[in-house]
Amino acid sequence: MPKSGTTAPPKKNSTKATSSATKNSAKPSAHAVPATAAAAPSGSALEIKDTRTNKTYTVPIADDALRAPDLKKIKTDDPDDLGLVSYDPAFLNTASCRSAITFIDGDKGILRYRGYPIEQLAEGATFLEVAWLLRHGELPTQQEYDQFVHDVTFHTYVHENFRKFLEGFRYDAHPMAMLNSSIAGLASFYPSSRNIFDETERNISIIRLLAKTPTIAAFSYRHVKGLPFVYPDNRLSYVENFLSMIARMSESKYEANPIFTRALEILFILHADHEQNASTNAVRSVGSSHVDPFSAVSAGVAALFGPLHGGANEQVLRMITEIGNVRNVPKFIESVKSGQGGRLMGFGHRVYKSYDPGAKIVKKLADDVLKVVGVDKDLEIALELERIALSDEYFTSRKLYPNVDFYTGLIYRSMAFPVDFFTVLFAIARMAGWLAQWEEMLLDKEQKIARPRQIYIGPAERAYRTKLTKKGN
Ligand code: CMC
Repeated sequence: MPKSGTTAPPKKNSTKATSSATKNSAKPSAHAVPATAAAAPSGSALEIKDTRTNKTYTVPIADDALRAPDLKKIKTDDPDDLGLVSYDPAFLNTASCRSAITFIDGDKGILRYRGYPIEQLAEGATFLEVAWLLRHGELPTQQEYDQFVHDVTFHTYVHENFRKFLEGFRYDAHPMAMLNSSIAGLASFYPSSRNIFDETERNISIIRLLAKTPTIAAFSYRHVKGLPFVYPDNRLSYVENFLSMIARMSESKYEANPIFTRALEILFILHADHEQNASTNAVRSVGSSHVDPFSAVSAGVAALFGPLHGGANEQVLRMITEIGNVRNVPKFIESVKSGQGGRLMGFGHRVYKSYDPGAKIVKKLADDVLKVVGVDKDLEIALELERIALSDEYFTSRKLYPNVDFYTGLIYRSMAFPVDFFTVLFAIARMAGWLAQWEEMLLDKEQKIARPRQIYIGPAERAYRTKLTKKGN
């Protein structure tokens, strides 16, 4: 077992430079992206004329992209001019990486993990099979899968000190706040995880995070409910074990409703990755400082908590409760359109400009689950919101369609999960994607510490003249 402390990163631009990252594996890492961008077809370039200087520049195009550092050479004769920067405050049209993990075509409503359509994975795969696929790029063989399931199952227990840690939270603590700090806290239990360029260390950290996140999530649920913690039951599958830790009381073995188990497995698959969304970007950005993976993915949990991201499923249910009755839907839609009533939560997406493929699957799943528990008035409200919004010019002209969060809340609630807990379910699933993306970032020889530029708009230099009349603190 290597000592704690960081190991050196692989040298840039060297296929051999793997330090300890690949020392433990005979074959080259399957997790790295190809070392350099696809060569631009010859002559593939952009000609830019700077009207300030009348100079023309040729900027190469590769992967249908300009490289922002190439813009630096565009400058005036002013010696203080450091060259042109690109300005894109919310990454509206900026690729932050080259990735081989997830493909989305927002206009056509396509989502694929490593080339496999989400519909096919949701139909036939297990969540752990998908987690393996996301990280390794290929589906596991039976032997690889059995070993992986064994490893994840073996590491589901958390240190007993976690009880004390979680018990320190107030009875009404939001489970995402508990999850976030607990995941970051795991770093303190596994100091050698800081050896991020050691493949063995990365591997065990990834296994631990996949294995322990459901345990911590379930413990936080039980804490809020004032129920005793239920330890993992390693006879059960990943999803069944999670449901057992949530719901088991005095039974010697918990038996979940198979429709709920499969529904949750499908939701975990749908949420497992979504390329460069806000939380994945947070994981990559924090991870780019070469911190341990527990700290890096806790940044993802934090980003996911926000209502514009994973917190949306919680907000959808709150919105539906506030609407209260299907009769109030037209008035609510009007309030959204006038800007008085906030956004229609669960609608719209930065990338999807047609029906989110995940949302289609989730809608069908909602039908299955609601058959078990019975259709309720909230589903009627959701269907009416969707019907009106899809035929209203405000929403159609802005290409606002239901996203995956629109129906997930209804499913989770019919499975008796409290509203506060919805985003936690999302986080358990997204852990698989964050980890695959974190590792890909780490092994990508083009990546460096994420450090954006800024356009300074503050005062020019000025002399300090205190406004305080009393000195000292
Ligand atoms: N309800 C009403 N109007 C909306 C909505 C909405 N849900 N979403 C966008 N708009 C309007 C927005 O007001 C703007 O109108 P205008 O051009 O007149 O100013 C236009 O559509 C473009 O919006 P934007 O804010 O520039 O779009 P964005 O790409 O920055 O935001 C979004 C994407 C997902 C944050 C946004 O659509 C939103 O807030 N949706 C509701 C929250 C939600 O459901 N989030 C879950 C996202 S999917 C899962 C995930 O990422 O976790």
